[in-house]
Amino acid sequence: MQYTANTLEHQWMPFTANKDFKESPRLVLKGEGVYLWDHKGGKILDGSSGLFCCALGHGRSEIADAVHQQLLTLDYTAPFQLGQPGSFELASRIAKLTPDEINHIFFVNSGSESIDTALKIAMAYHRARGEGQRTRFVSRERAYHGVNIGGVSLSGMVKNRETFSGVMPNVVCMRHTWMEENRFVKGQPEHGAELAEDLQRFVDTYGGSTIAACFVEPIAGSTGCLVPPKGYLERLRQICDENGILLVFDEVITGFGRLGKPFAAQAFGVTPDIMTMAKAITNGAQPMGAVAVSDAIYDAIVNNAPEGAVELFHGYTFGGHPAACAAGLATQDIFERENLFDRAADLSEYFLDSVFELQDLDMVTDIRGYGLMAAIDVKQGAAPGARGTEIQKKLFWNGLHVKFTGDSGILAPPFISDKSHIDELCAALRKTLEEIRD
Ligand SMILES: Cc1ncc(COP(=O)(O)O)c(C=O)c1O
Repeated sequence: MQYTANTLEHQWMPFTANKDFKESPRLVLKGEGVYLWDHKGGKILDGSSGLFCCALGHGRSEIADAVHQQLLTLDYTAPFQLGQPGSFELASRIAKLTPDEINHIFFVNSGSESIDTALKIAMAYHRARGEGQRTRFVSRERAYHGVNIGGVSLSGMVKNRETFSGVMPNVVCMRHTWMEENRFVKGQPEHGAELAEDLQRFVDTYGGSTIAACFVEPIAGSTGCLVPPKGYLERLRQICDENGILLVFDEVITGFGRLGKPFAAQAFGVTPDIMTMAKAITNGAQPMGAVAVSDAIYDAIVNNAPEGAVELFHGYTFGGHPAACAAGLATQDIFERENLFDRAADLSEYFLDSVFELQDLDMVTDIRGYGLMAAIDVKQGAAPGARGTEIQKKLFWNGLHVKFTGDSGILAPPFISDKSHIDELCAALRKTLEEIRD
């Protein structure tokens, strides 16, 4: 495959060192199964399912065909005051996967939009019940909830928030759940449930009746697969219940089988009030996200509005786009037909065992993992993140794509991977980490 260079100058790339990238680009021209092909013809194993999206692997013709057919049948229709069958069908399919109490789905176009939508739904819910004074939100250090203003306000990552903070000042952050004593623990750590008491301290300090919602990623994904300590999510649920606070699980990465169950809610046995999702909802083939809410929230907002009036003044021109819904339905068909949530669960032990074998490497300071997701922390280099960036680039040219955040590499192979792909992934990691000099 040939790539004829044109200028790279005009596109301002997201979350990328633009000057550096344009001097030495890494372009992906093709994807099939668990592999990608770069512009020099190299074959690359996709160790992070793109950005945690492509659980079914790349180039699924069923999804492409469904999108093509949908665009020929109905390419677009206004989603306000009009509907199209695909979005209702997809909502029902997703509601079957969510916990019993969660049956209402609002479509958006990304994870970031799902977070801002969840924030607004939480506020609308409290206001509908005469508790509009609940304007404070609780989040967590090392949280990533996307890049829209609401999500950035919830962010627990300094670089993501320092330039933009202050727009939504009513956010307080609990401590993150990384603990020295939990280093190299596979699955849920024993220590750390007490970190959930930070929420109780906010209740004691600010008053539980001022807090609208507590947002957490059940596993903090983008900052390095921080698996919740045993009892931690349960305790958050309890404090929320005692104080009328909504519990929101950001399942943008953990949703759709990544943890071997449909959602983290089922994997950890804790049911939130709201769940946000995106990424694997369409296998990454079309931009889409969704917010799933409990019956209680939907009923409170919808039943409180005057007869015939719009209940929630919120929505996106492209929300529930016909092509995205077609991709979503085809994706759900494949998840079911190929039994892929179970396959992810079955592969988990081999995957985690293999990744944890890398702990003998000098460069590795911690490994965590759950389901088909793991993170490897490497020794910091000249500056935070410098070594992570160096490793990510070297890995690419050594035939492996891994998403790095700072000095943490986050592994999330497609569910269709088999053991040989896991071996290949770990071998490429070992080779590259051995090449890095302290
Ligand atoms: C937990 C979580 N929430 C939200 C987002 C934002 O999603 P998007 O990039 O689709 O806006 C991400 C993206 O990685 C995420 O991991």
